[in-house]
Amino acid sequence: MCGIVGYIGNRESQPILLEGLKKLEYRGYDSAGIAVFTEQGLEITKTVGRLANLEGRLSGDPLRGTVGIGHTRWATHGKPSDVNSHPHTDNTLKFSVVHNGIIENYLELKEELMHKGHRFLSETDTEVISHLIAVEYEGDIVKAVQRAVSKMRGAFALGVLTEYEPDKLVAVRYASPLIIGVGEGEKYIASDIPAILEHTRDIYILNDGEMAVLTRDSVQLMTIEGNLISKEMFHVDWDLMTAEKGGFDHFMLKEIHEQPKAYRDTMRGRMSEDGRSVVLPELKMTPDMLRGFKRVHIVACGTAMHAGLVGKTVIEQLARVPVETDVASEYRYRSPIITPDTLVIVVSQSGETADTLAALREAQRCGARVLAITNVVGSSVAREADDVIITLAGPEIAVASTKAYTSQLIAFYLFGLYWAQANGTKNEAEIAHILAAMESLPEQVEKILAQAEVLKGVAESISRHSSLFFIGRGIDYAVALEGSLKLKEISYIHSEAYAAGELKHGTLALIEEGVPVIALMTQEELYEKMLSNIKETKARGAHVLGIINEGSEGETAKSVDRQFAIPRTLPILTPALSVVPLQLLSYYASLALGHDVDKPRNLAKSVTVE
Ligand code: M6R
Repeated sequence: MCGIVGYIGNRESQPILLEGLKKLEYRGYDSAGIAVFTEQGLEITKTVGRLANLEGRLSGDPLRGTVGIGHTRWATHGKPSDVNSHPHTDNTLKFSVVHNGIIENYLELKEELMHKGHRFLSETDTEVISHLIAVEYEGDIVKAVQRAVSKMRGAFALGVLTEYEPDKLVAVRYASPLIIGVGEGEKYIASDIPAILEHTRDIYILNDGEMAVLTRDSVQLMTIEGNLISKEMFHVDWDLMTAEKGGFDHFMLKEIHEQPKAYRDTMRGRMSEDGRSVVLPELKMTPDMLRGFKRVHIVACGTAMHAGLVGKTVIEQLARVPVETDVASEYRYRSPIITPDTLVIVVSQSGETADTLAALREAQRCGARVLAITNVVGSSVAREADDVIITLAGPEIAVASTKAYTSQLIAFYLFGLYWAQANGTKNEAEIAHILAAMESLPEQVEKILAQAEVLKGVAESISRHSSLFFIGRGIDYAVALEGSLKLKEISYIHSEAYAAGELKHGTLALIEEGVPVIALMTQEELYEKMLSNIKETKARGAHVLGIINEGSEGETAKSVDRQFAIPRTLPILTPALSVVPLQLLSYYASLALGHDVDKPRNLAKSVTVE
């Protein structure tokens, strides 16, 4: 995810900006840059690649000045490149902007500006912001920023400088985090606390819709409409490691809690304004081409593969096109039948998984069109696929995938609905109904997260067992597979996921007194069947935790030992909620056993060997 740092004070800003950006390196980035007021005016140096590249460029030609902004970019609009890196400027070179987030209507704004004669150098949404501010400038940078922001839709944390008012640094927050650091005769902005922790522990945390005007000696806080506000200063007493994890004990827990934001970011700009259709402007394939595909292969590894299993149900139910799923390491060795009307979908958080990449190449060699769902713009998978849907989960650091998985689910829902629109298998009202339910998901995840303590207790008891089972039917079975993988991966407890109806064909022999069984029971039409399967396990002494829908507690209580209710949503959307308690169970079980949650044994975040 992108990182922002800004400084206004009496010291040289370049080293402060570079050090600040280094403190954000752990979040991942693909390019970096800084803008500083020098004697020559507002000067920018930026480059693709590591911060060391930027330092290399600056070492021969440093930017000297006491006011500046810096940025590390995690590409979303446009590939990682020098020109797409931040800070961006306008055609007069008098304004400079760093930005985290996404401007949904940037293409519209860009077109308007181009009609007025503006020339754009990059493919980014951010460059539009600097042009917009320049257009709105009538001698007051604060007002210009407010007017520009009022025209933008989406998410943005901004740091803005103009050569016309060199003693001001303007900061804005809307759905993308930003903090203000307060020091003696100097002020800072940052996307995250670690960037400025070395200089100050006194900060203001901006809320959505708020902005700040910083001078060396003052911080003026206001809403983006210009109403002055006051807020309490927050004194940070975290150490650097805790600050990197946003106050959480582990990256995994932080990433689990980031899921509501990841859902919102992945959905942002992909629903029409009236909420009645899906828009995926990034797809090069036309609706006509989409209608031409008669079958789908979804290929991926591990957790991404489990997202693919949900994707299978989603595409089949919504677009009514048959889907096969394969683990990537098997796909190309089984001579898959790939016809011109086969669409191959590869799913990969990193976009660098060797097996997935090999499967993608094999599919293309056989003449298939490949759509990639990936979290990393500019990754090998993103570059080589014919079409790409980027998930906007932000960098995932813990080895155990959480927010990347759930963002992949969101991508499948959007794509499935898009295809249903093209095929006419769902009408506008049905699509609007599903989209409305999707918009509630972030808040519903927040409700689940608020009950984390309950799951902690359950996890502690699970951690005393050497083996357990996850069962489910239909789409719940796909989630059971992911719950089981998560538990194995970080707690090292043996577990198996079973289609509940399949237990009696062999595995039931393993159920004995006290064996924990986690039963996913969110699919109403399969509920009765699940109850029968649960009874089979209870009769052999299993201790059952039911993951159920809110409102069915009374009924289910008769059949299970414990239950955890998730908020109600449409049956097809339940995986986006039911996986969250399973992620928390794994996390707390690993914690109870004293394992290295973020770096489990024998595993790597990105598996680049076959
Ligand atoms: O980067 P990818 O999504 O391609 O990675 C695929 C798997 O290696 C990955 O999902 C793995 O299973 C996770 N560590 C599970 O949490």
